[in-house]
Amino acid sequence: MSSSPSRRILVTGGSGFIGSHVCDALVAAGHQVRCMDNLATSRRENISHLEGGKTFTFEEADIRSVDQCIAAVNGVEVVVHLAALGSVPRSIQDPLATHATNLTGFLNMLEAARSAGVRRFVYASSSSVYGDSKELPKQESYIGRPLSPYAVTKVTNELYAGVYSRLHGMDTLGLRFFNVFGERQDPEGPYAAAIPKFIRAFLRNEAPRIHGDGLQSRDFTYVGNVSRVIEQAIAVEDARCSGEVFNVAYGARTTLLELVHVLREEMARMDEAIGRVEPVHVAERAGDVRDSLADISKARELLGYEPMIDLRTGLRKALPWYLEHWR
Ligand SMILES: NC(=O)c1ccc[n+]([C@@H]2O[C@H](COP(=O)([O-])OP(=O)(O)OC[C@H]3O[C@@H](n4cnc5c(N)ncnc54)[C@H](O)[C@@H]3O)[C@@H](O)[C@H]2O)c1
Repeated sequence: MSSSPSRRILVTGGSGFIGSHVCDALVAAGHQVRCMDNLATSRRENISHLEGGKTFTFEEADIRSVDQCIAAVNGVEVVVHLAALGSVPRSIQDPLATHATNLTGFLNMLEAARSAGVRRFVYASSSSVYGDSKELPKQESYIGRPLSPYAVTKVTNELYAGVYSRLHGMDTLGLRFFNVFGERQDPEGPYAAAIPKFIRAFLRNEAPRIHGDGLQSRDFTYVGNVSRVIEQAIAVEDARCSGEVFNVAYGARTTLLELVHVLREEMARMDEAIGRVEPVHVAERAGDVRDSLADISKARELLGYEPMIDLRTGLRKALPWYLEHWR
């Protein structure tokens, strides 16, 4: 149980992968949690264990609707805004849908929160804002040009949140997540992320498909680190945080080939045949960044963030869920 006071918190995208972990953590910490989601890319099962609890409610609602946003923020003190359409390829395929949810929906939520007098608005940004910047590690103040419509939406979210902080004195805190993974991340569909897709391939003794040479790198971040920093962003009382953005990552760089190697080692402990499965290489994907590694010193210093769970430990935590649901 956290020592921070109990608050009324709205989590948008709360039945999604990250959102459901955030709801778990906030309910466990004694907060009153309202989860809002239109179930576009998530399953109600992700939060069914919370439903019926005294401190948790689920509203099926859409952030593209102004009225539904206004209803959702009624009576809340803090908004954790995670609802969005993820995936760079999806945004290239269907930029209008990504724009409608990630930008218009974002502004609907921000404006609804402002008119309801919500003081704290914590929202999901993304490492994609670093775009074509070659600098490593990525520091918050140096972003490149966006490489996808998805990245444009996240950059613009940050611009709007900064303006609401300066104009209206709202405490907006943006968290630039770097490749989050863990239990409940969906391996299905064309827009699934790399780790769940690789896990599912190995579970079927199929070769995981790597786009390009596999030497592209990512800062893979276990979801438990993310829900912890969201709690810290809700609780922090430091005026320097208002209107700011923070990298949220583990702070280590892993190539996709290294990821496949670690994952295969871990999964071969359960089924030694998996140890013999080799990845195949397919065409590179448009819009992907080449290398990604976060400097997390700003979140450390201002939010007290300390990522506790590294890639291998995170995979060990996540694998039983995949075995249960996807074997
Ligand atoms: N997973 C990552 O690696 C990662 C990295 C960077 C940023 N992010 C951001 O973190 C947030 C959560 O992502 P996630 O990985 O949990 O993905 P997710 O798809 O599991 O969660 C997003 C949730 O938003 C909901 N949603 C979509 N459109 C909606 C709408 N119009 N109205 C209401 N709800 C809607 C979906 O149903 C889903 O539950 C997103 O903003 C995403 O852009 C994620």
